[in-house]
Amino acid sequence: MKKFKRYLVTAALPYANGPVHIGHLAGVYVPADIYVRYLRSKGEDVIYICGSDEHGVPITIKARQEGVSPQDIVDRYHKIIKKAFADFGISFDIYSRTTSKTHYETASEFFKTLYNKGEFIENTTNQYYDNEAGQFLADRYITGTCPHCGNASAYGDQCENCGTSLSATDLINPKSTISGSEPILKETKHWFLPLDKHEEFLKNWILKEHKNWKTNVYGQCKSWLDQGLQPRAVSRDLDWGIPVPVKGAEGKVLYVWFDAPIGYISATKDLTADWEKYWKDKETKMVHFIGKDNIVFHCIVFPAMLKAEGSFILPDNVPANEFLNLEGDKISTSRNWAVWLHEYLEDFPGKEDVLRYVLCANAPETKDNDFTWKDFQARNNNELVAILGNFVNRAMVLTHKYFNGKVPEITSLNEYDKNAIVEIATIKEAIENSLENYRFREALKYAIDLARLGNKYLADTEPWILIKTDENRVKTILNISLQITANLATIMEPFLPHTSKKLEEFLNFQALKWDATGHADLLETGHILNKPSLLFEKIEDEEIEKQLLKLAKTKEQNNPKSINANPQKELISYEDFSKLDIRVGTILEAEKVPKTKKLMKLLIDTGIDKRTVVSGIAEFFEPEKIIGKQVSILVNLEPRKLKGIESQGMILMAENADGKLTFVWPAENIENGAEIK
Ligand code: 2FM
Ligand code: ZN
Repeated sequence: MKKFKRYLVTAALPYANGPVHIGHLAGVYVPADIYVRYLRSKGEDVIYICGSDEHGVPITIKARQEGVSPQDIVDRYHKIIKKAFADFGISFDIYSRTTSKTHYETASEFFKTLYNKGEFIENTTNQYYDNEAGQFLADRYITGTCPHCGNASAYGDQCENCGTSLSATDLINPKSTISGSEPILKETKHWFLPLDKHEEFLKNWILKEHKNWKTNVYGQCKSWLDQGLQPRAVSRDLDWGIPVPVKGAEGKVLYVWFDAPIGYISATKDLTADWEKYWKDKETKMVHFIGKDNIVFHCIVFPAMLKAEGSFILPDNVPANEFLNLEGDKISTSRNWAVWLHEYLEDFPGKEDVLRYVLCANAPETKDNDFTWKDFQARNNNELVAILGNFVNRAMVLTHKYFNGKVPEITSLNEYDKNAIVEIATIKEAIENSLENYRFREALKYAIDLARLGNKYLADTEPWILIKTDENRVKTILNISLQITANLATIMEPFLPHTSKKLEEFLNFQALKWDATGHADLLETGHILNKPSLLFEKIEDEEIEKQLLKLAKTKEQNNPKSINANPQKELISYEDFSKLDIRVGTILEAEKVPKTKKLMKLLIDTGIDKRTVVSGIAEFFEPEKIIGKQVSILVNLEPRKLKGIESQGMILMAENADGKLTFVWPAENIENGAEIK
């Protein structure tokens, strides 16, 4: 494996439009943090870069919904996210943001360099435009009827009812969510990065030179490359973002996915004046930690941008993870289906490392995985408490009991002792190998194996029995047990930094650098230990049930009873509603419309007049059975002709998801003409 002089590790910049949850930690920030802490412990020159991604349409939508500015939104969440990461010991060297001055300058410069080198193509396309609001509409600002499932509130990029990806122009009856008006198509100019031009280079670079990338990453790249790359727009018509820095681009900003990865560069500039050595020297190993939805941007688009710019290095690896689900369902911010980091800490104060542990042990490294509270409890109780905590506690307590808390000497070594000492070194090497290949679950399993080894060693040698007959032997056993504990202080540090600190405190010892571990001579004979407390506590069933109840409530709020109901339509004002003139009327006559299956011609006494209404109810009702019934009728609907008959209103019907119809009538008889409001 090539030896690099330094490392540049980036973690995906989270969008500052909501707090962070367990999926973020498991997918990106915990693995990246383990990797970086390990490299630091190895004495490598490494920087760990992150920050908030503060542009993009969802932020503007949230701001509009709340009646505040996009800047207010990103200020709020930047603070919350930054604190949550710090609380969990995510040890960024800098946590920056893409609204910083440095970033505006860096991203503009980057665009201008590509522009001046002729690396973009300009293209005019037709986009939806809101004439009333006087602006172009991002896909998320357009709603309409989904052509696939009929959901009346599908978005211009996706229908959340049937999950289909859409183009805004696919929607039936499109509407601007800004003014409510029907948008028109209007020409607009944009800049495109011709990815097709870089296709051959990317094919060679990824498919030939990076066969070592994780199979999920390599596979996704291959599929993009096999399909053939298309030019991608790098600008948008939006009023939130970094202005496109060329003439004729007024009102246009850089596409968020163009500026966000440049955020890694800007953050490095804010961290160190010496930033260029991290970004431009081939002796730097750059690694991007991301989730699977970011693969195309980090493996194809950003490398193409860097390559086109010409002076930057490309990533050595992009160890993307898959997704973490929660109790069998996809984590979703909008449905509040998540374990939010700040809420976790309110319920489990001081248990930061428990979550780090569970999320790493169960990280979605090769496939989507599920977080369940029962698994969380089991891993805490059966692994952290029963293996790691138990071993450390026994080694410490026995030393205090038999030798007043002083590290006893090694008297002589037997086979058990020698085996244990060899195992310490073997396990350390196995962890290194796993970490260097981005297999963090495996590395953690080996790290726990070290505590397992300690437990087995104590169980095999039984110092609590030997103490009555052979104190010298017990000295050796406890010395080796404490050496294992001291090794754990270093080896656990990347995974469980808070626990490592506690071990240092118990041992009254500063954890060593990585390469100094792997041996049984870390603590000197006679060294005085501190009194230990419990490293981990058992988590009781009630605490888990509380969490499950919380999720059950969320589910209930998301699906109130009728799981079959169509999604709610967009909000209207009372004024809109009051335009509807709905009355109680009585059906006087009813007959099927000939040559149709569905239509029935009704004569209704509306209290105002007697009028004809054509209604699509013939499949469900016999004419003679409904004569004399009271109904609700919308009387001020514009008349329209159906099969040549003028219909002067509309009968209101309730329709379930299977299309079954039933009348909506007053609970008691009331005069015809009574208003429904
Ligand atoms: O998917 C996301 O959350 C994006 N905000 C990630 C951006 S990563 C980088 F390019 F900045
Ligand atoms: Zn749909």
